[in-house]
Amino acid sequence: MDTTVAIKWLSEKYNAEVITVTVDVGQEEDFQEVESRAYKAGAAKHYTIDAKREFAEEYIARAVLMNAMYEGKYPLGTALARPLIVSKTVEVARREGADAIAHGSTSKGNDQVRFDVTAKALAPDLEILAPARVWGMGREQEIDYARRHGIPIPEAHKKYSIDENLWTRSIEGGPVDDQRAEPPEDAFKWTVQPEKAPDQPTYVEIEFSNGLPRSINGERVDMLQAVRALNNVGGLNGVGRIDHIESRLVGFKSREVYEAPAAVILYEAHRDLEKLVLTPRELRFKHTVLDPLWADLVYQGLWVEPLRQSLEAAAREMERWVDGWVKVKLYRGSLQVVARDSKYGTYSRDIADYSTGWYPSDEEARGFIEMWSLHSLLALKKRGQ
Ligand code: ARG
Repeated sequence: MDTTVAIKWLSEKYNAEVITVTVDVGQEEDFQEVESRAYKAGAAKHYTIDAKREFAEEYIARAVLMNAMYEGKYPLGTALARPLIVSKTVEVARREGADAIAHGSTSKGNDQVRFDVTAKALAPDLEILAPARVWGMGREQEIDYARRHGIPIPEAHKKYSIDENLWTRSIEGGPVDDQRAEPPEDAFKWTVQPEKAPDQPTYVEIEFSNGLPRSINGERVDMLQAVRALNNVGGLNGVGRIDHIESRLVGFKSREVYEAPAAVILYEAHRDLEKLVLTPRELRFKHTVLDPLWADLVYQGLWVEPLRQSLEAAAREMERWVDGWVKVKLYRGSLQVVARDSKYGTYSRDIADYSTGWYPSDEEARGFIEMWSLHSLLALKKRGQ
């Protein structure tokens, strides 16, 4: 809504020729309708750019490699799509010889930072305008402004503020702002209410190669197909609802609700496979350092920060071994990994088995334990603890 209103506002305020860009990152939207709304709001020209494949292959794939969950909960859908939307917008700005680019973000959100930082990196010479940071209208006044100028506002956007793409549906505002209340059922679109999901589990087998999904239930998939298939099967089973108190990068917390079935399933399966093949040191380094650091950078609008690529390079080195399959069980909102295997897995049933196979002798065990505990025991003694 902010963006639509901004079109009119920009052309009135600056007498500017406004060229609008809609980037298709997989949101379920009538792009024809968006275009006509843009023209009704005063756009001189409109672009609709299909970036679904690029989003899946260049952004979502990285998120999967990095198990990217901000604060352990948010799969970063909105945060991931912003840099891509900016890069497409900058392309149009260049083609059209524009002297500024604009977005509809307010001064309270994270998105303004993501848009502005990426734009500054890609096109330092372009001015950045954020009308919603300037005009001083509240939600009601905006709706009123739209009405007065004959700009249609879609029904859904009156109650919630929704941002949707292939990876995540983000729901904010309205009833969701009350952190003490369960989100109303009408906030959800991708996932059925878990209690209304089929009373029978669905099993899904995902095969990974170099840390990325390669086939689902034996059928070869690319990243885009994998995300679609898993959103679908997860949603049908009520899997993928997320309720999160989130530390925004702009200094305050907000209550966020997300739907992200594919993300939830892929991260869970991917992390499980990593546990099978990575050494404990690799695993700890990745899960406690690389992954959360990457998610923080992306959340905080620093997609362009050089460290992001360095973290990915370190991860890719380890992901070479993340090959194999994982079987997940979906049932009425729950998700469980129930089986997995990999040719690089270091789990050995023969070694692990309690009744047969390899056993260290009592002497070997004692020697090991003695040296293993020596640092700690010496320190305790010295400290009189
Ligand atoms: N809190 C999330 C983020 O900062 C989602 C924001 C979604 N935006 C929206 N208008 N609903 O990435």
